[in-house]
Amino acid sequence: METRITRSPRLAATILRDGGLVAFPTETVYGLGADARQARAVESIFAAKGRPADNPLIVHIAGRTQLAQVAATVPPSAEALLARFAPGPLTVIVPRHPDLPAVVTAGLDTVGVRIPNHPVARAMLTAFAGPVAAPSANRSGRPSPTTWPAVAEELGGRVDAILQGGASAIGLESTVLDCTGEPPVILREGAITREALLAVWPQLADAVSPPPAEPVRSPGQKYRHYAPTAKVILVDHPQEVPARVAPTAAYIGLTHRGFVVKPQRVRRCRDIADYAQSLFRFFRACEKLGVRHIYCQRVPETHMGRALMDRLRRAAGAEEGSQ
Ligand code: TXA
Ligand code: MG
Repeated sequence: METRITRSPRLAATILRDGGLVAFPTETVYGLGADARQARAVESIFAAKGRPADNPLIVHIAGRTQLAQVAATVPPSAEALLARFAPGPLTVIVPRHPDLPAVVTAGLDTVGVRIPNHPVARAMLTAFAGPVAAPSANRSGRPSPTTWPAVAEELGGRVDAILQGGASAIGLESTVLDCTGEPPVILREGAITREALLAVWPQLADAVSPPPAEPVRSPGQKYRHYAPTAKVILVDHPQEVPARVAPTAAYIGLTHRGFVVKPQRVRRCRDIADYAQSLFRFFRACEKLGVRHIYCQRVPETHMGRALMDRLRRAAGAEEGSQ
């Protein structure tokens, strides 16, 4: 399959209408979209990514008026939080509309819905005027792409088009909040922080690991998100990078003084937002250089630091998954 690289949201919408696959930019990471109403098109997302069929997709819409097309009902928490944070990096899990093909939600009776805040994504969704099912535009088990060339590396030849945009401003995937019960449950940390959500909805719960016999509430959380060729090691201070491995190591963090031997690649981030925005791109750059050990500095777990630490732990393999 030849993959078209385009800047046209209208062309992207036409390809979606024809049942094609379009990777597109969002403010979090790039997504791999198909018309959520066409089961065959949605099935081809799973094939292109090599994604397990039991991992549900997020449905993207242009605005809150389209919620009724994908949700059976909108719980009060979802209503209030979308009113405050949409468009933006927040996905709410709500009861699924019966007309939505089961393949979108991996057979669940709930659906994740997001209204992205990116001018190109918005233009595409507005031109398309329908729901777009889209996971992150990486091969399963790989880091989410935050630039279009990274998407081309992941999915070139496997999708109909890549809609160009700049680098994703946030760089980590959206906050996922299960609003089907009360209190709502944070299933994945993201740029809409726990603190920000609490300011609007005063009670929230954390997803707890279910006992082995119970189904996982957010199926994606059981899979390892990034299976690096390099080993990811979390440190409190750059001095923990051993001089012995430094020539084949890389370091990313907020402080960088004190290397005895300089690592192959060093990125000192301005702040946590900059760290989050550049993390997945840094991983990809390290991979290309053949870096063997990636040392990542831990950050305090408040605000955006919670989402960043979540991704760092997953990359370090602290969360074992089934693939
Ligand atoms: O920022 C984002 O959310 C990006 C952009 C493209 O929007 N998308 C994204 O999709 O990260 P994906 O598929 O890589 O991650 C979605 C996560 C998965 O962990 C999935 O299991 C969970 O959301 N999810 C989706 N629908 C769900 C549902 N109905 N119930 C529970 N979890 C759900
Ligand atoms: Mg993903």
